[in-house]
Amino acid sequence: MVDGVRKFRISVIVGARPNFMKAAPILRAFKKYPQFDVRLIHTGQHYDSLMSDVFFRDLGLPKPHISLGVGSGSHAKQTARIMLASEDAFYGDGKPLVDMVMVVGDVNSTLATALTAKKLNIPVVHVEAGLRSGDETMPEEINRRLTDHISDLLFTTEKSGNNNLAAEGISPSKVHLVGNVMIDSLVHVMPVVDKSTILDNLSLDKGHYAVLTLHRPSNVDSKESVYKILNEIYAAQVSMRRQRSTDEPRMPIIFPTHPRTKERLHEFGLLNHSLGERLADVKIIEPLGYVDFVRLVKDSAFVMTDSGGIQEETTYLGVPCMTLRNSTERPSTLNGTNRLVSNLDFIHNEVAKILSGGGDKGVVPEFWDGKAAERIVDIVFNKYGSQLA
Ligand code: UD1
Repeated sequence: MVDGVRKFRISVIVGARPNFMKAAPILRAFKKYPQFDVRLIHTGQHYDSLMSDVFFRDLGLPKPHISLGVGSGSHAKQTARIMLASEDAFYGDGKPLVDMVMVVGDVNSTLATALTAKKLNIPVVHVEAGLRSGDETMPEEINRRLTDHISDLLFTTEKSGNNNLAAEGISPSKVHLVGNVMIDSLVHVMPVVDKSTILDNLSLDKGHYAVLTLHRPSNVDSKESVYKILNEIYAAQVSMRRQRSTDEPRMPIIFPTHPRTKERLHEFGLLNHSLGERLADVKIIEPLGYVDFVRLVKDSAFVMTDSGGIQEETTYLGVPCMTLRNSTERPSTLNGTNRLVSNLDFIHNEVAKILSGGGDKGVVPEFWDGKAAERIVDIVFNKYGSQLA
């Protein structure tokens, strides 16, 4: 209660790794408004210490008010479990226990909690709305579309998001272009990033290594595709050495592995240094915490990835990035340093271009300035909280 008036109760949802960096700046920004009682709910979609706890530490996230502990499962099972558990968190004693649910990103936790809240007539706010890859074989694309269509207030990171939502008939009056909360987190940790000892720990020299991350089923679920990617990287190294001096050491490729990727590498016999001499430069490591990962990316020569967030982080940091996918839902990064490499045969051309200094410098999109969360909470306050003041 503030002066006898009940506070407006907002639940912010996190579930999987990329949600944590989006929620952290929002929770910080909400502190400006004592009229809101803001609580963090963790669905437990990601539960390993290296996929979850370390991010709470690095980002200064508070302990979740409620942990639903749903864990892994098929899409239907995971989504259903999150819906069942979140219904109990949102509704009790015959009435809603929250006044608004705020979801971020495009993971199963995003859609499941948005749908549960909407059916309880609780307003839903979607942060990072409007992104579209056009590829409905990606579970994230389905999560994005459905979440956007049941949201009452939508915050976009780039202009393409507003255009996509308008094209799907969502009223522009609900949509606000505020910038990118992922970049808010990046800006927030920049002052401590150089304190990370990850380069020393891995014996790396600034600018003389590359970073690889892969976790999309389309890249990691077939042995052919994983081998193809790793072989193309090797071919790029070899041709670069030929062009330069033969004595120059090949660049280490640092490959922090997501649990799904690790399982597949194990299955394909690629773990425990069994990559063979041809792939001796690829160093497979455990997933990194946020600060270490940002340091690793910031000082790398280039990045190869299939992640969404890393396309944005490299754009902001001005680091060349190759996105190993057929499409991107983040087209503004293509005006930045991101390049789509849909045909894996072209990996080595692109690597050669970057290493010979031909990588693009790129432009950082509008409002990717560290202040997106402040814009979000101000808009939420004007719409829902001002009558409580
Ligand atoms: C999820 C998101 C994806 C996001 C990614 C980031 C969906 C549909 N996908 O994909 O958008 O880019 O997170 O990491 O929500 N596992 C563990 N420990 C964990 C979490 C997962 O071992 O803490 C393993 C489990 O075997 C699980 C598999 O990883 O089956 C996949 O996890 P899941 O959450 O289903 O999807 P991600 O591939 O992580």
